[in-house]
Amino acid sequence: MSSQPSLGVGVVGIGWCAAQHINAFIKNPHTRIVGLCGRDEARTRANLEKYEVLPHDGRITTRFEDLLADPDIHIISIATPNDLHAEQAIAAARAGKHVLIEKPTAMNLDELDRVSTAIRQANVKSIVSFELRFNPYMKFVHWLRESGRLGNIRFTRVQYLSRVTDWYSGWEWCRTRQGGGSHLLAAGCHAVDALRWLSGKEVVELSAYQTHFTAGYEWPTTILVNMKLQDEALGHVSSSTDFQMPYTFQVEVMGDKATVRDTTLLWKDEVVDLEELQAANPWPDLISLEKTTYGTAFEGIRINTMIMPDSVDVAHHPFQAEIDDLVDGILTDRQPALNVFDAEKTMRICVLADQSAEQGGAVITL
Ligand SMILES: NC(=O)c1ccc[n+]([C@@H]2O[C@H](COP(=O)([O-])OP(=O)(O)OC[C@H]3O[C@@H](n4cnc5c(N)ncnc54)[C@H](OP(=O)(O)O)[C@@H]3O)[C@@H](O)[C@H]2O)c1
Repeated sequence: MSSQPSLGVGVVGIGWCAAQHINAFIKNPHTRIVGLCGRDEARTRANLEKYEVLPHDGRITTRFEDLLADPDIHIISIATPNDLHAEQAIAAARAGKHVLIEKPTAMNLDELDRVSTAIRQANVKSIVSFELRFNPYMKFVHWLRESGRLGNIRFTRVQYLSRVTDWYSGWEWCRTRQGGGSHLLAAGCHAVDALRWLSGKEVVELSAYQTHFTAGYEWPTTILVNMKLQDEALGHVSSSTDFQMPYTFQVEVMGDKATVRDTTLLWKDEVVDLEELQAANPWPDLISLEKTTYGTAFEGIRINTMIMPDSVDVAHHPFQAEIDDLVDGILTDRQPALNVFDAEKTMRICVLADQSAEQGGAVITL
């Protein structure tokens, strides 16, 4: 019997992000790299070295069709520029491959629909890279809400503020309408997904404004989206490359019992018991809790973790957990929670918010 891991992997678009995928697949005990596809073999080899990809036996090809046709490839990981994701995902599903699709899943509603249809018809497993759902802080805030400690959610705000300019490896394609699309498609979709996941509520109506400050982009560089959520709650997403500050991913989830504002848990009418929370904390090795003050006078609880969503340390990007979840889903015949059907809801909000902003803030009902 062969001792090789059972699932073969093909990866397309060998740049910064693909390198994280490849290393995570190498570390997963059930997967092995079989094929890598880049447009130029020498550049692909150079990128593998530059991004410190671990040793593996994968073959390099310049033809995506080679990955599709290879019977030893069971999973295709798509890390190409944004406008190529949908067609590559559809082709991979039709070839019977399970797929990991980098965000954004697609660039418009028609593509989103066609990706979901292809995955459904092929009956393959899928995961979309909103991997912040695997970040320990995000998991903790999600747990606070799900366990009822925040009460009924009234308001949620997530802000994706990351100053991306020509230092970025994907700058030349990402800054264009064709390749990047918009700030929400290229970046802020993480914030929209976090808003849905942390609040537990879907968007029912939205209106957005946008502006353009940073040079070099073909698309507006800030968009602010106001949202009506289910059950009369409200939501807000800011997505921008214009802020003169380090990358921040700011989270506020406000319920009728308590509020999370980034690393602080706050209350007003009903005191949150620190000792009870410490005892119930599901991740005591990753999250610690301590008394703090907020502003000049108010008591709160500080949520301590090394691994915030805005950490720039690559080792803190939870691609490993995402990929392990996809592989487990394949092996146990379970569709991962972050599948294309769920991601489609996040992506629809992004596309419609862009439409609203193009129309000067038009109100759009979902
Ligand atoms: N989930 C996350 O947190 C996260 C983080 C970063 C990026 N991403 C996503 O990952 C994807 C790749 O981003 P990246 O940062 O890895 O970008 P990147 O470093 O530019 O890598 C993309 C690779 O795609 C290849 N490619 C294929 N067709 C191309 C084309 N027509 N134009 C330009 N390049 C082409 C390029 O390699 P060849 O030229 O050799 O073919 C390039 O190295 C994007 O969709 C991005 O949104 C996600």
